[in-house]
Amino acid sequence: MLELDAVSTGYGRTTVVHDVDLAVPDGGLTAVLGHNGAGKTTLLRAVLGLLPVRSGAVRLAGEDVTRRPPHQRVRRGVAYVPQGQQSFGQLTTRENLQVVADSFGAAGRRRTREALDLFPALEPLLGRPAGLLSGGQRQQLAIARALVTGPRLLVLDEPTEGIQPNVVHEIYAAITTLTGGGDLSVLLVEQHIGYAVEHAGEYAVMTSGRITHRGAGGGRAVAEAREAMAL
Ligand SMILES: Nc1ncnc2c1ncn2[C@@H]1O[C@H](COP(=O)(O)OP(=O)(O)OP(=O)(O)O)[C@@H](O)[C@H]1O
Ligand SMILES: [Mg+2]
Repeated sequence: MLELDAVSTGYGRTTVVHDVDLAVPDGGLTAVLGHNGAGKTTLLRAVLGLLPVRSGAVRLAGEDVTRRPPHQRVRRGVAYVPQGQQSFGQLTTRENLQVVADSFGAAGRRRTREALDLFPALEPLLGRPAGLLSGGQRQQLAIARALVTGPRLLVLDEPTEGIQPNVVHEIYAAITTLTGGGDLSVLLVEQHIGYAVEHAGEYAVMTSGRITHRGAGGGRAVAEAREAMAL
């Protein structure tokens, strides 16, 4: 679904991400791990087209989109949930979903129902302004809103940052359900290694903008990933 081929990108004169190779298979989950400032969000911005790629290539479902603007990537099925649980604070939970669903007609309404089935905690909050939700609730809303677009690739930037463990569990249960269907691929950035590596088909550790370690995911890979992060 997604292939990055020696991607470099950055800001101004500074190159932040260097020669990153990464793939998300169809229906798979690939995790990128790394400490604060490693360049994870910067890499995602290049995937979305929000930052120009300096060298290398970004391919979606085999198509080179390296020079395509963000909206054209979105049209090809990419949905991005940025770091920090963003939503329209003045709008209610329902309106936050409707704003997106309205552009998709009947499919949007169907996917809204599916997203609420996936995150039942949102149901009683439908009338509440999103600005009054907890961080964990806002994160679920942000993921639900992304799902209403009917993505083929969901890009999640630290979805569990600052969120209490039981909600983290719910979010990962939802991610597992989503990838289990085989139709959705997930690119996941995390600092919390356990869940991410356990659920990932493949994971990569990023250090100072480079991939310094990679491996197959799964429960037994967690210790190895922790060690790679500690280096
Ligand atoms: N808009 C920007 N302009 C200039 N430099 C930036 C900008 N955004 C990030 N950087 C720098 O790029 C580097 C990587 O930042 P990035 O946000 O990608 O890290 P990260 O791995 O996502 O970290 P975190 O886990 O804290 O979110 C950092 O040195 C940061 O200061
Ligand atoms: Mg970040």
